Amino acid sequence: MNLDLKLVLKNKAINGWRLFWLISTPMSIVMVIATLGTDMSTGAGVSEMIQFSVRWAVPIIFLVVAASSVQILIPGPLPVWLLRNRKYIGMCFAVAMAWQGTFIFIMSNFFREDYFKDVYLLRDELEGSIGYIFLTAMVVTSFNFGRKHLNPKQWKLLHKSSIYFLWAYPFSVYWWNLSYYENPQPIDYVFYWSGFIAFALRIAAWGKKRQQAAKKNVSERSTPFALTLLGSALITFGLFVSASGLYWQKAVTAFLTVPKWSADLVLWLPYWPFEPYLSLFVIGLGTLLVTKVRA
Ligand code: HEM
Repeated sequence: MNLDLKLVLKNKAINGWRLFWLISTPMSIVMVIATLGTDMSTGAGVSEMIQFSVRWAVPIIFLVVAASSVQILIPGPLPVWLLRNRKYIGMCFAVAMAWQGTFIFIMSNFFREDYFKDVYLLRDELEGSIGYIFLTAMVVTSFNFGRKHLNPKQWKLLHKSSIYFLWAYPFSVYWWNLSYYENPQPIDYVFYWSGFIAFALRIAAWGKKRQQAAKKNVSERSTPFALTLLGSALITFGLFVSASGLYWQKAVTAFLTVPKWSADLVLWLPYWPFEPYLSLFVIGLGTLLVTKVRA
């Protein structure tokens, strides 16, 4: 059975550039059909298309974020296939984002009033623009002509930071939809939890690697019981924090923005003061403790 799946996943049609075309062509056809069915003579219509197009991009970036962790946590033919095709799947994300970019361009040029009504803060504009700069840099350096200008360390740093930034954007959008606005849609839950799981898998994979490295280096491994207990408590607390934003967001934001410098940073520093990511930070800290090994 496993062997069959391995063979199926090696099929040329679902690997490399063919996979890219297989996903991005129907996606683009759907985008054209949706555009034709939308009243593009109004700002609201164009905004609808911004939302529609980015909703194709979001699951792809979450998948790309999770890809390497899945292979570490549950090695198998499917994760290997995912990892092997990460670049091409990432390119499909870029295509969906290019559609969003096109609609943003239309809105910012022809419907300026609606555009400024939708982009509330300078920070929104900065987050979005930085996202597009990262995306462009990633695409360019995915080909030899761009890659040759970077050494492997710089390349890795660029791609890691870009992926994290581009994950952080939609993850925070859906976190705010659930934790601030009163009327979240079912899709907000689906995307928030998918983004959460994608990053939590990275933390879990990091923890597993730490444990494996410790096993190799230390003959008699032991994690002090108190650390295991504290780490597990932190992970549980982090999970609770991740699911309860609506109940603590106002108080935590108010607390974190008490100093004037912090309140000022909200205006321009992307994601500040990082409320959507607090749960994952706590879970990461818990994982650090649980996997801390003493000889
Ligand atoms: C300067 C660049 C950008 C601008 C001006 C911009 C603008 C917008 C606007 C106006 C909307 C609202 C659409 C609506 O609800 O009617 C939106 C939604 C959204 N954008 Fe962007 N965006 C930018 C870049 C990005 C980037 C880089 C990402 C990263 C993936 C992103 C992800 C999203 C998401 C997830 C939504 C919510 C879609 C939903 O409601 O499900 N945007 N954007």
